[in-house]
Amino acid sequence: MGSLDGRVVLITGAGRGIGREEALFFAAEGAKIVVNDPGVEIDGTGGDAGVAAGVAEEIVARGGQAVASTDSVSDWEGARRMVATALDAFGDLHVVVNNAAIERNLGLADLGEDEFDDVVAVKLKGTFAVTRWAARHWRERHVAGDRVDRAVVNTSSGSGLLNPLPTQAAYASANAGVAALTTVAALELGRYGVRVNCVSPSMARTRLTLEVPGVGAEPPAGGFDPLHPSAVAPVAAFLAAADCPVTGQVLSVRGSTVTVNQGWSRGPSVHQAGPWTVAGLAAELGGVPLEDPFDKLAQALGGALGVTGRDQLQEMINAQLDRR
Ligand SMILES: NC(=O)c1ccc[n+]([C@@H]2O[C@H](COP(=O)([O-])OP(=O)(O)OC[C@H]3O[C@@H](n4cnc5c(N)ncnc54)[C@H](O)[C@@H]3O)[C@@H](O)[C@H]2O)c1
Repeated sequence: MGSLDGRVVLITGAGRGIGREEALFFAAEGAKIVVNDPGVEIDGTGGDAGVAAGVAEEIVARGGQAVASTDSVSDWEGARRMVATALDAFGDLHVVVNNAAIERNLGLADLGEDEFDDVVAVKLKGTFAVTRWAARHWRERHVAGDRVDRAVVNTSSGSGLLNPLPTQAAYASANAGVAALTTVAALELGRYGVRVNCVSPSMARTRLTLEVPGVGAEPPAGGFDPLHPSAVAPVAAFLAAADCPVTGQVLSVRGSTVTVNQGWSRGPSVHQAGPWTVAGLAAELGGVPLEDPFDKLAQALGGALGVTGRDQLQEMINAQLDRR
């Protein structure tokens, strides 16, 4: 018996990378899968219907059940259609895994309006759109007396939650938005029996990360490969299982390390009885330790920041920004 026996699962961006591994893993755990993927390039251009079809065929060849969907999550009607595909093919929908993403990595001063919009449209609006159409169905089923567990598993990134990465203004903003959306949706949809959580992969070897130092290297022969994109799948499956009690959480996944994120939290504050003057606030806040984004980036890169470190980091940022 699998942990997802009988669950109908829609996975977006399931044709490649992490989403593909989730589709294969979920199917092996007994789920029926809608493999959604228009098969676009990293920047969202182009398209290849064979990408989703290939994964669906692979699942069926292994004895599982799957159908392909080539709609884009950023297309409102497309998002509605992919939910309808699950209902038509398998009679219900229990789980949505919002995994699709594209990247347009450019310095903020070079990033165009369309480039920003396109990244946010896939990652943030796409997560909302698919969840919204699924929520419509789930609300209907709940009103009709259905009390089956439903779940949404969103996908965020350390870029947006933990690591401020230069050139990722759009991608980081969208990913931070997905984490915020996760907690709001968990609060709102709980009344219909829907749990909403989020995974935040890190250093998984896919086409998005091949240029990250250390990721593109040859995987070790045999044994556990912590950079393999399949590392995320069991965590997503845990959150998708009907007996999982967890909701409103964002879990980072790096290899087999799973970390509960605690998000933005309250730091020190200053207060006075009446309104602040600009000078008064400047004097009070001047004594409060503030988090430095350079420190965060240095930590993300695995080091501590010294004075020379800051200069090196600035040079690295400049080089990335000047690449265009
Ligand atoms: N690889 C990592 O280490 C890493 C780190 C942090 C976050 N993530 C997140 O994990 C998820 C999967 O990333 P990946 O590394 O497997 O990338 P990937 O590029 O290998 O796979 C993403 C898939 O999404 C599909 N896609 C793009 N636009 C779409 C759209 N409009 N509608 C439906 N599908 C669409 C693509 O065709 C592609 O097959 C993304 O949400 C990404 O932000 C990955």
